[in-house]
Amino acid sequence: MSVTGLTSRDFTEQSEPFGLFGEWLKDAEGSETNDPNAVALATVDEHGLPNVRMVLLKGYDERGFVFFTNFESQKGNEILGQKKAAMCFHWKSLRRQVRLRGEVEVVSDAEADEYYATRPRGSRIGAWASKQSRPLEGRFALEKAVAEYTARFAIGDIPRPPHWSGFRLRPLTIEFWHDRPFRLHDRMEFRRETPEGDWNKVRMYP
Ligand SMILES: Cc1cc2nc3c(=O)[nH]c(=O)nc-3n(C[C@H](O)[C@H](O)[C@H](O)COP(=O)(O)O)c2cc1C
Repeated sequence: MSVTGLTSRDFTEQSEPFGLFGEWLKDAEGSETNDPNAVALATVDEHGLPNVRMVLLKGYDERGFVFFTNFESQKGNEILGQKKAAMCFHWKSLRRQVRLRGEVEVVSDAEADEYYATRPRGSRIGAWASKQSRPLEGRFALEKAVAEYTARFAIGDIPRPPHWSGFRLRPLTIEFWHDRPFRLHDRMEFRRETPEGDWNKVRMYP
């Protein structure tokens, strides 16, 4: 039995994935020690070489799953180049996994501005100071950049840097996995042909 009372059998009876994802994320918020919204984000570079790292999910709805980052970072370049990505949530406390694959779009400026405005001042300075994923000769260079931007934005609002925004993964597949005894886990995949299409549900061998 899960925190919400959805048994493993119940979850395979859900007809659409977003409500179910919301239930599972809510359960994780109640049980994970930290960052229940942390998710592994996989991309591919221009040679087809995969890459993976953690990001924080900052929003989701029927349109997709949103995270924010530096668009000049490795992941930024890979997503802007390939327009595709995958995600994998693993909530250890619940023994659950959710996998997503799909196309990626850039969020609107208004959406990025709205989220940026909620970030602590230090994080907004950091977004200016960090040349994410590029070589840094030493910690001092980063601290110097932070000091320079702190002085530059000493008065008034800190605008969102042009290289900092959000991506929305628009899933074509969402798979829910829940641990069952003897590795006979439950797996349910929701699939659609296009991000606007209807979901089909497929149960998978564990
Ligand atoms: C739990 C966790 C959450 C993270 N969240 C973000 C995030 O939301 N955005 C981000 O740009 N980096 C985030 N990072 C850092 C990334 O994992 C990564 O180190 C950084 O973005 C550079 O990745 P890249 O070189 O592939 O672009 C997070 C790291 C961890 C461990």
